[in-house]
Amino acid sequence: MRGCPRSGTARRVGPAPPERAAPTEGVELAREHDVVAARHLVRRVAVEAGYDLVTQTKLVTAASELARNTVIHGGGGRMDVERVEDDGRRGLRLVFTDDGPGIPDVDLALTEGWSSGRGLGLGLTGSRRLVDRFDLRTGAGQGTTVTVTMWQRR
Ligand SMILES: Nc1ncnc2c1ncn2[C@@H]1O[C@H](COP(=O)(O)OP(=O)(O)OP(=O)(O)O)[C@@H](O)[C@H]1O
Ligand SMILES: [Mg+2]
Repeated sequence: MRGCPRSGTARRVGPAPPERAAPTEGVELAREHDVVAARHLVRRVAVEAGYDLVTQTKLVTAASELARNTVIHGGGGRMDVERVEDDGRRGLRLVFTDDGPGIPDVDLALTEGWSSGRGLGLGLTGSRRLVDRFDLRTGAGQGTTVTVTMWQRR
């Protein structure tokens, strides 16, 4: 991504999401309490899909951080859960969207410990590490969409 103009330009980090997707459910993320609903939804869908406990917990933890960012930094938005299949592999994909201010400097936001506010600056980097795929589309004034995918362990 080096050489990309920074300010005012949409940035993208991560590979393209896999092809086939079937939407399941979603939640609105307007206030802090909705983060709890997002956690519960992800846990339930992961259990239903047969994920092992460790993988469930990783995905729920990532969802919690990303949902919190949507509420706190994005001014609210939503999370949608989709079942995905890629080359015979099954996975769950979580899409967090908001029409908030966007992230002007993605590299900075993805620096462990950096926060524009009073946070610990661990949410984005932590969730990125927990999932199999992490895709961030954002830009100043363009809202933010974070898409994460977790494959079912065989
Ligand atoms: N949805 C979003 N909209 C706008 N800015 C965002 C969004 N998500 C993250 N950011 C920006 O990226 C920075 C880093 O996010 P990250 O989740 O890593 O840390 P934090 O939310 O500040 O603190 P923590 O999550 O550790 O409590 C945020 O401080 C914020 O500036
Ligand atoms: Mg955060």
